[in-house]
Amino acid sequence: MKKFSEALDFRGKVAAVTGAASGIGLGVVQALAEAGATVMMVDVDVTRVRLERDRLKQAGFEVEFSRADVRSEKDCEEAVAETVKKFGKLDILVNSAGVIIRKDVLEMSEEEWDLVLDVNLKGVFLMCRAALPHLIETKGSIVNIGSGWSLKGGPKAAAYCASKAGVLNFTRALAIDCGKYGVRVNCVCPGDVDTPMLRKEALELGLDLEEFLREAAARPVQRPGIPDDVAGAVLFLASPLADWITGTSLVVDGGGLA
Ligand SMILES: NC(=O)c1ccc[n+]([C@@H]2O[C@H](COP(=O)([O-])OP(=O)(O)OC[C@H]3O[C@@H](n4cnc5c(N)ncnc54)[C@H](O)[C@@H]3O)[C@@H](O)[C@H]2O)c1
Repeated sequence: MKKFSEALDFRGKVAAVTGAASGIGLGVVQALAEAGATVMMVDVDVTRVRLERDRLKQAGFEVEFSRADVRSEKDCEEAVAETVKKFGKLDILVNSAGVIIRKDVLEMSEEEWDLVLDVNLKGVFLMCRAALPHLIETKGSIVNIGSGWSLKGGPKAAAYCASKAGVLNFTRALAIDCGKYGVRVNCVCPGDVDTPMLRKEALELGLDLEEFLREAAARPVQRPGIPDDVAGAVLFLASPLADWITGTSLVVDGGGLA
């Protein structure tokens, strides 16, 4: 029997979060740490991840960081190995590292296509594969960050949409393979969340930031998301409340896709 009053108590759990230096990944790190987890912050941006690690440590949280480019098999394996060496095990993997390039297909180079697909999709595969042996030991779980554009297309974002649809169907396929090991795999699909990525999109599209954010708020819950909105869904899926939930996606978008 689950104890519902304790289901969101992550004390004793070890998590690794990619894209942990910024935006949604950082919000997830903070939420997990507040809920009691020990968290390895994985990111390619060492300056920023070190800064955030220091800030969270000063606030009393048990966090460390590991530099990894999720496009690299070696980096992913080392980040997972470092987590297990430092903290003894791995219970939760959250894949949030991602990039977007707002160009249509005619404007997009092969290198740009590869960058988006490699970070957003191959990076998820590499981290999941590196983490799985440890997650099998703990009967842990994976939460991948997809997007509303895992489920529908969007303008000037063909590579991103392809990568995020890939993340969602990879999640489903991995969940099927991992059920027998007691490892659950789910996907959270956020709408527009106010992060450095979203603000960079306004720049790339040549749009006024305030107008872009106003447009992002045009949804039933009339505001853009914040990282905490996504973090709540991640904690739910990683918790015992979701023990019978695997291979699914949870749209977190203030009703944008309703
Ligand atoms: N912000 C949104 O509106 C939104 C909406 C839907 C989905 N998402 C997804 O949420 C995730 C997080 O986005 P965000 O808005 O927080 O973006 P962000 O730019 O604020 O953070 C992304 C993080 O990923 C890291 N990163 C980039 N490339 C990497 C690599 N090769 N290896 C390791 N780390 C790398 C960056 O250093 C950064 O810290 C992404 O997967 C994104 O696609 C974001």
